[in-house]
Amino acid sequence: MENLSRRKVLTLGAALGIAGMAGTTGTAWAWSGKGSIAGSGTGADPFQVWDDTADAVAAALLKEGKIPAVNTAWQGWIDNNAPLPAGMPDYVVAYLRQVNKLPSWADPAKLAASEKLYTRLSSYLFVSETLGSGIMSTVIPREARAVYWSAGGADMKQRAAKTFTFGYDLHNSKAWAPDGHFVVTANKTRLVHAVVRNLLPTSAKYQDGADQPKPISNGDILRTFHSVATFARSNMLKWNIALSTAEQDADLHAWQVALHLLGVQEQFIPPTWADAEAQAQQMLWPVLGPTDEGVSLAKTLLGYIEKPTLGLDSGFVNELVRYLLNDQMGDWLGLPRDYAQAALVRIEWPAYVAFREGTSKIMPGSFYLFDQFVRGISMLYLNNGTSPTQTPITLPTANRPG
Ligand code: HEM
Repeated sequence: MENLSRRKVLTLGAALGIAGMAGTTGTAWAWSGKGSIAGSGTGADPFQVWDDTADAVAAALLKEGKIPAVNTAWQGWIDNNAPLPAGMPDYVVAYLRQVNKLPSWADPAKLAASEKLYTRLSSYLFVSETLGSGIMSTVIPREARAVYWSAGGADMKQRAAKTFTFGYDLHNSKAWAPDGHFVVTANKTRLVHAVVRNLLPTSAKYQDGADQPKPISNGDILRTFHSVATFARSNMLKWNIALSTAEQDADLHAWQVALHLLGVQEQFIPPTWADAEAQAQQMLWPVLGPTDEGVSLAKTLLGYIEKPTLGLDSGFVNELVRYLLNDQMGDWLGLPRDYAQAALVRIEWPAYVAFREGTSKIMPGSFYLFDQFVRGISMLYLNNGTSPTQTPITLPTANRPG
């Protein structure tokens, strides 16, 4: 009862735009647009900003029952430079003509540098993004609940595969090239989110714990960006992987463009990694916590990653998650302890990275175990790279059944 009252208060607060309730951080949003890539801002709170144009397109598609037709039409629409497919309503075509392109401020040299960087680091990024960010998403309460109660929550294997598509297409040697895929993948993702914003408010079970009028605000997307990209950069630095200033700039720039393509306004996008870190301190780390939905999702995801897929011992996987995140998150998710594996991971993972990167000549005893793990995780991505026959990103037509 207390929770319900709190939820009602929060929902009302969010609907009225009362500062401090937005984002459920308990603190008012204090980011100045001056400190964004736009250089100025309206002072709006990103947790009160959604994606009006895309949301209206999604609402019309749902109302007219056109989602299956769009999914069929865009199945073969993959390359960045491919013409928009036939078979979609005119308003979808008009919308995509507007958004399916790079912003004027995109810097081709930096994007090309990001392709090189990501090719070099892809296996580490995939580790950080699956067992790190993927599991962290289950302790971001709003994200865990949104994912659980949307259609994809009922089939996490397929949903994870779709998310790998995004990571694979971004961390690719030709992500931004005419025959790369990322611009299209990001646009499909933006429209998936818009459909979810229309669908989830009609789910009684989702609404029962909701604290905002509709999900996936600009602030929520930024929060996820920090749980993926800001977190990945800090991992690379922690693991002593050489990263030049130019490479770090390229990494941030690729994500700035990605955020733009996902519908985040420029007034909220951080211009430097220092600003990104400050934003994450405010909007990500303080809101993490367990939910029933998140605990269930984590269990499913970990089951998918360990034995059946990679032949890995669950103690090893659980301790890797605890190493990448922390023990508090591991405890929230009820991950059983395996102290022998914990010691192995904490000592030998950094040694494995150092040997692989050539900064140490000592090959750790568990080199092949880690190598099998890293290769296995990479295969999960490779198997789900975009192609018409592999797990394409599709618009949902309904929420999670039941
Ligand atoms: C769908 C990526 C932020 C909730 C997707 C998909 C991708 C993706 C690739 C399509 C795959 C699929 O259908 O499962 C991202 C990225 C984000 C982000 C890169 C930010 C950087 C968020 C946030 C939320 C969210 C903040 C919720 C708070 C969902 C949901 C789906 C989805 C519910 C639909 C799953 C379904 O089909 O049922 N996202 N997402 N996402 N995302 Fe996100």
